[in-house]
Amino acid sequence: MLTVEMQEKLARLKEKRNAVILAHNYQNEDVQEIADYCGDSFELSRLAAGLDAAVIVFCGVHFMAESAAILAPDKTVLLPEKEAGCPLANMVTPEALRAFKEKYPDAAVVTYINSTAAVKAESDVCVTSANAVAVVNALEEDRVIFVPDRNLAHFVSQKTKKEIIPWHGYCITHHRVFPEDVIKARQAHPEAVVIVHPECRPEVMALADAALGTGGMIKFCKETDRQEIILGTEMGMIYRLKKECPDKTFYLLSPGLICPNMKYTTVEKVISSLEKMETQVAVDAEIREKAARALQRMLEIH
Ligand code: 13P
Repeated sequence: MLTVEMQEKLARLKEKRNAVILAHNYQNEDVQEIADYCGDSFELSRLAAGLDAAVIVFCGVHFMAESAAILAPDKTVLLPEKEAGCPLANMVTPEALRAFKEKYPDAAVVTYINSTAAVKAESDVCVTSANAVAVVNALEEDRVIFVPDRNLAHFVSQKTKKEIIPWHGYCITHHRVFPEDVIKARQAHPEAVVIVHPECRPEVMALADAALGTGGMIKFCKETDRQEIILGTEMGMIYRLKKECPDKTFYLLSPGLICPNMKYTTVEKVISSLEKMETQVAVDAEIREKAARALQRMLEIH
């Protein structure tokens, strides 16, 4: 539980370290409360690139903190829980991607931000769920290797004339949702609109009313006239959305929509990370430079 003592301690530490706390929309409720900014992957990357602070505490998973370290090399980036990884990001290695690229020399390599720095370094441009379609459509190339999420790749392929060559990775949390879950949820809440993340299976997206990244979901929920919304994404979004739209009712599409890695971070760990200045996330200079090009190109296009 978030106590006044904890909040005061945190405020003192933040001032001492000149730190800013960024939190992804999937974080625990208390972590969202203590964050200076909550957002989706795109918003948090853009913020990290332009922040005026010495230290960024990244409450999310490893690739997010790594992206912040790539975009803000002069800052110290802390990941409060060093074990908070992303299984999807580990589904492609730079070696495997290099070998794949050789098969399609004319294709642009578009890499989802849920990837390691070393994989980003092998890529032409990065994307997030908020801008994947716009970035792909802005490229000169007609063929695109899309890494590592196959479901997001499918989503993009439905919205572009370009040929999309997908990698075979997937998010273990979103991939756990099946069409039957959508059917059951609609039966339970017939008045509700269904929105899902584009990391869900194509068959799930086909049954939903919209597929949106977490930032897009917040915008959708604020703007819709519908009072009830079924959410096909990680459960942390329910807290964020209840805050943004207190008059609306939200239901989780399936009970399996929980990302354990996102839940590792707690306020206690944030405090401890600022006390000990751990765990610092840094990227090797050569990889950083190449990965920064792919991330910066994304920020310029979108
Ligand atoms: P968003 O960019 O939509 O917030 O997604 C992040 C993510 O990791 C989804 O699993």
